[in-house]
Amino acid sequence: MLLELRGVQIRYGDMVVLPAIDLSVPQGQFLGVIGPNGAGKSSLFGAISGGLRCSAGTIHIEGRDMTRLSATQRCMSGVGRTFQIPQPFDGMSVFENILVAATYGGRSHGAQATSQATSVVRQCGLEPWADSMAGALTLLQRKRLELARAMAMRPRLLLLDEVAGGLTDSEVGELVQWIVQLQREGVTVLWIEHLVHALVGVVDRMLVLAEGRIIADGAPRTVLANPTVRSCYLGSDLDEDLGEETRDALH
Ligand SMILES: Nc1ncnc2c1ncn2[C@@H]1O[C@H](COP(=O)(O)OP(=O)(O)O)[C@@H](O)[C@H]1O
Ligand SMILES: [Mg+2]
Repeated sequence: MLLELRGVQIRYGDMVVLPAIDLSVPQGQFLGVIGPNGAGKSSLFGAISGGLRCSAGTIHIEGRDMTRLSATQRCMSGVGRTFQIPQPFDGMSVFENILVAATYGGRSHGAQATSQATSVVRQCGLEPWADSMAGALTLLQRKRLELARAMAMRPRLLLLDEVAGGLTDSEVGELVQWIVQLQREGVTVLWIEHLVHALVGVVDRMLVLAEGRIIADGAPRTVLANPTVRSCYLGSDLDEDLGEETRDALH
């Protein structure tokens, strides 16, 4: 298994948001994570990436116990993540932001890091803004930069938190293609997405979180057709999120 969570608990003060998560993700899997707002999806990513400390349970990545390692140590050992609200270094240029990611997370140095950053800038369509300050970017450009930084880290495990929000359909399509490409190169991908239709056609497996618990886990279409998921989680919103094509496939 690439990733193993056993009894992982996350709390904010007295509030337990994830009581006990068990999850195994094999190497190379593309896993979609959905669930209503406040379900604990971003907290789950915090637990895996090390931004949040588990109050119980264990996290193993490639068989190594990561439970007590810091976010930086996990990043160095191949865990890359994006944030729901992009968090670039605003006072650095787009290129510099990506170079920092390539140098620290990507374990490259000097000319090698520069050439890696240059190729990610190109791959993510950020060339026109390479010298712009990250703080001056629009939301869409910041989302691209967020993904570019994660890619530059050359992660073995990539955690994407709502990267498609605010993008047009064709931009979402483009983004999905980059992510599929990374996954084909052997990266294990966990992707939280509110836009369920962006996930359905591409993920191998889908997980539904509600109130801190995994309420469904399996093939995407099976999971979305599950009556518990439809009624308890998304209700009528699911139909809106899915888009016509997926809806037709399910009915
Ligand atoms: N830093 C925080 N301090 C206190 N409560 C938080 C914090 N972050 C998230 N929460 C709470 O934890 C719960 C889960 O949040 P989150 O993991 O962001 O859910 P999701 O990503 O599924 O919307 C929510 O009730 C949220 O209000
Ligand atoms: Mg979230």
